[in-house]
Amino acid sequence: MTRPTTDIRAAERADLLTILDIYNHAVEHTTASYDLEPQALAARVAWFEARQAQGWPVLVAVQSGQVVGWGSYGTFRDKPGYRHSVEHSVYVAPGVQGSGLGTALMRPLIERARQDGHHVMLGAVDAENAGSLRFHERLGFERVAHFRQVGHKFGRWLDMVFLQLLLEHPPEPRARPPGR
Ligand SMILES: CC(C)(COP(=O)(O)OP(=O)(O)OC[C@H]1O[C@@H](n2cnc3c(N)ncnc32)[C@H](O)[C@@H]1OP(=O)(O)O)[C@@H](O)C(=O)NCCC(=O)NCCS
Repeated sequence: MTRPTTDIRAAERADLLTILDIYNHAVEHTTASYDLEPQALAARVAWFEARQAQGWPVLVAVQSGQVVGWGSYGTFRDKPGYRHSVEHSVYVAPGVQGSGLGTALMRPLIERARQDGHHVMLGAVDAENAGSLRFHERLGFERVAHFRQVGHKFGRWLDMVFLQLLLEHPPEPRARPPGR
């Protein structure tokens, strides 16, 4: 059977319901997200508008006219010293996982982050999410931190792993100390 072609494009408002469905499936059935309750559409709209206002990318994967995955990145932490680091999210619809869509979403996101001069891309992954850990490592991400029992969902403690990718873009030159 031939695989349907996949388009990767910028998300639009009309995609938000499907983006939300894909996310909420992970919320309700997995530890991929530490949200405990399905997100409301209004919250997803607010998220999208904030991402757009701040110039952060939100991409969707489309097959046969249907959104089947999405990915985005944004601020890692608010303090200005973190401005060269970004944190991403990527979610693929359950029926089509493992067919290359996550990779097809991440590659342009990584390229965009590099071109925009960011230095580090980070992902926070539940330590039980072996598929996502493997997925990130295949993209070149490296496990750099393992936080024990920082999450609690489905009646148990959850460990969270940070993975990071150095984007090989030199940081802005350091200001010279005065008098040198
Ligand atoms: C993790 C995720 C984004 C990866 O996207 P994907 O389209 O399934 O992955 P791809 O097909 O591009 O890459 C396949 C690789 O990812 C890994 N992988 C992760 N989840 C997988 C799944 N459900 N099925 C198959 N492979 C999966 C495997 O390592 C696989 O390579 P391998 O089989 O050769 O080892 C996607 O599976 C997903 O949305 N999972 C549920 C939500 C989630 O965990 N999101 C990430 C939160 S940090």
